[in-house]
Amino acid sequence: MKALVLAGGLGSRLRPFSHTMPKQLIPIANKPVIEHVMDNLRAIGVREVGMIVGNRREELESKLGDGSALGVDITYIQQDEPLGLAHCVLIARDFLADDDFVMYLGDNMLIDGIEEIADEFRTTRPTAQVVVHKVADPRAFGVAEVDENGRVRQLVEKPSEPRSDLAVIGVYFFTPAVHTAVERITPSARGELEITDAIQWLVAEGMDVRARIYSGFWKDTGRVEEVLDCNRELLDRLTATVRGEVDEQSQMVGAVVVEEGARVLRSRIVGPAIIGAGSLVEDSTVGPHTTIGEDCLLRGAGIGYSILLDGASVDNVRGVHGSVIGREASVASAERNRLVVGDHSSIEVPA
Ligand code: G1P
Repeated sequence: MKALVLAGGLGSRLRPFSHTMPKQLIPIANKPVIEHVMDNLRAIGVREVGMIVGNRREELESKLGDGSALGVDITYIQQDEPLGLAHCVLIARDFLADDDFVMYLGDNMLIDGIEEIADEFRTTRPTAQVVVHKVADPRAFGVAEVDENGRVRQLVEKPSEPRSDLAVIGVYFFTPAVHTAVERITPSARGELEITDAIQWLVAEGMDVRARIYSGFWKDTGRVEEVLDCNRELLDRLTATVRGEVDEQSQMVGAVVVEEGARVLRSRIVGPAIIGAGSLVEDSTVGPHTTIGEDCLLRGAGIGYSILLDGASVDNVRGVHGSVIGREASVASAERNRLVVGDHSSIEVPA
């Protein structure tokens, strides 16, 4: 089985980060989302990965290379405009040839792995298999209506009145029959070739389309809240490891990882938390559920339930919570509020 990983798209809901980096490279528990995706693919025995990339191709390629460091073999496939998920299948035709494949949206996190659902597909081999997850409000997703045997009766993209609570999540299993479907459909109201429409075409043709419920932890990391939520969930599975330096005046509580070259001085770190390689934490309190990237500086800082990307700093500011601070960004105290804020950023301070 091959994989088609979708890493194009504009990431507009993850601004301002997506202005300067592909959203698939946002680190969660100090590892880019796309590497978590590769881990899941490797675990189901996939080696050949076709990766759809758009205007952020360069940064993705320089991070992932040919995939060998991650145990996969990546072929990059350029999509010049975000014309939809089914369009991705169309342009990957040569790469996919006549093999079965798993299509994986590069911003989806399924942190309990996909082994079981991949096994089900391999054993039963229906024409297509979607993965669904019960959500309170499915209106932002493809929604599946499924019979008692797990067979899909109908799929609708972002319905205003959903007929079930089963949202289609970003992992799909296909046999080559999908190639006919993506050629037959027309663009949706948002001007995209929807994969949901292609699968619905298979259903309407009477083909065997199955839905499997994923009951593990799943998030589409399209927004900052979801990124923080995923970070919390992954950190909850952390095991304490100290490779860096922690002085005697510091206190470590619970699962704390201090990476190589990191230094923790006169500080209190409440796990789960990660202090990235080369970072300096002085006179600060950090955690819980906080990930500090590489080469960050925390001095007199108080920060919890947050993510600092590489090179960020917090100097003499306490009460930082639910925050994501970008690469090389600095947060510092001063006499007055002095803000240099990039496009589409958001800052919330006590009134
Ligand atoms: C896409 C699919 C949708 C699916 C969702 C999962 O939506 O079109 O059917 O439920 O991914 O993350 P999009 O993120 O393009 O709005």
